[in-house]
Amino acid sequence: VRTVRLAVIPGDGIGPEVVAQALAALEAATAGTEVEFEQTPFSLGAARYLETGDVLTDADLDAIKSHDAILLGAVGGTPGDPRLTGANIERGLLLKLRFELDHYVNLRPTVLYPGVASPLANPGDVDFVVVREGTEGPYVGNGGAIRVGTPAEVANEVSVNTAYGVERVVRYAFAQARVRRQRLTLVHKTNVLVFAGSLWKRQVDAVAAEYPDVSVDYLHVDAATIFLVTDPARFDVIVTDNLFGDILTDLAGAISGGIGLAASGNINPDGRFPSMFEPVHGSAPDIAGKGIADPTAAIGSVALLLRHLGETDAATRVERAIADDLAERGDARRSTAEIGEAIAARIAAASVTVPAT
Ligand code: NAD
Ligand code: IPM
Ligand code: MN
Repeated sequence: VRTVRLAVIPGDGIGPEVVAQALAALEAATAGTEVEFEQTPFSLGAARYLETGDVLTDADLDAIKSHDAILLGAVGGTPGDPRLTGANIERGLLLKLRFELDHYVNLRPTVLYPGVASPLANPGDVDFVVVREGTEGPYVGNGGAIRVGTPAEVANEVSVNTAYGVERVVRYAFAQARVRRQRLTLVHKTNVLVFAGSLWKRQVDAVAAEYPDVSVDYLHVDAATIFLVTDPARFDVIVTDNLFGDILTDLAGAISGGIGLAASGNINPDGRFPSMFEPVHGSAPDIAGKGIADPTAAIGSVALLLRHLGETDAATRVERAIADDLAERGDARRSTAEIGEAIAARIAAASVTVPAT
């Protein structure tokens, strides 16, 4: 029996609601198999901060690091809550984990499953993955402000892009393209962000030389949003920086049936640190506590987690259960628990042996 030590961070808002269903799916997928998950729950997020004043202590971080993988729901309070002013849960917790655990690949697949309604009239065959850089860009916090609160205030946010950091994520994206449909699109804003844009472009061109089988194109990020709406089927692998990737993946979620379906992995491909799997969505304060959040994204994140760990069989069963549930879902309004239980039941019913793919 293989024992996987899993750190579980349910977080805030709908986070705990969807994580409960994700864990039920994990249980269904691994019951009676050779892998077992030993879970450690971590109470982190806005709720913990309001109680204790802590966002993420060094002890928390060390404890999390000792695990094999992380499952996270969502963190963050209600935007604008005055009690959270200055706390910055997103930076101090979520981004700190991504940075400290060197999650340089933020993998965000988008598939429009059969039976799922897209807001687009003619979406076509949507199946692409955004490889979003996870440790650099404007997210590093390398900014500052002076004369704050005066009419002369100046606020800077600096995007940091290193040759090392860009090359490694670009390499990962090309490797993905090779095993997918051999198409890679760099998305940036080279016409305005000339220094970072030039670096990204040169790194892509350099790695492209090693991948003659992969066709490469480039889109400015503004134009990329057009094509994501008018012709999303053209995309296979999109590689882009941290901020553009954040924005494009909410749009990708919307066109493929809703943000409640979008799963993601924050990957440390070197395996030096645990990778972290989470839905793309946030804590959704507007629907928290109502039991109506869609847990599919969180369950899909469990599939990504299992695949990352090499538990191909279990991952496939979770993926199929999601696809089958979506195919028959229709417009029926179901609760978080109803969707979670239906998917878990399908996982449990599926045969444990799946032909290797
Ligand atoms: P959000 O993703 O939480 O919500 C945006 C909209 O999508 C809302 O209308 C919400 O109800 C809906 N939605 C989200 N998830 C859903 C689901 N599973 N099922 C059905 N509907 C769903 O984004 P926001 O409102 O901008 O942010 C809320 C808080 O979450 C903020 O504090 C933000 O910083 C934080 N956040 C955290 C993460 C994370 O932990 N990974 C990601 C994004 C936002
Ligand atoms: C996401 C979120 C985070 C991001 C925030 C909450 C820091 O929007 O995971 O997409 O911007 O990466
Ligand atoms: Mn986001």
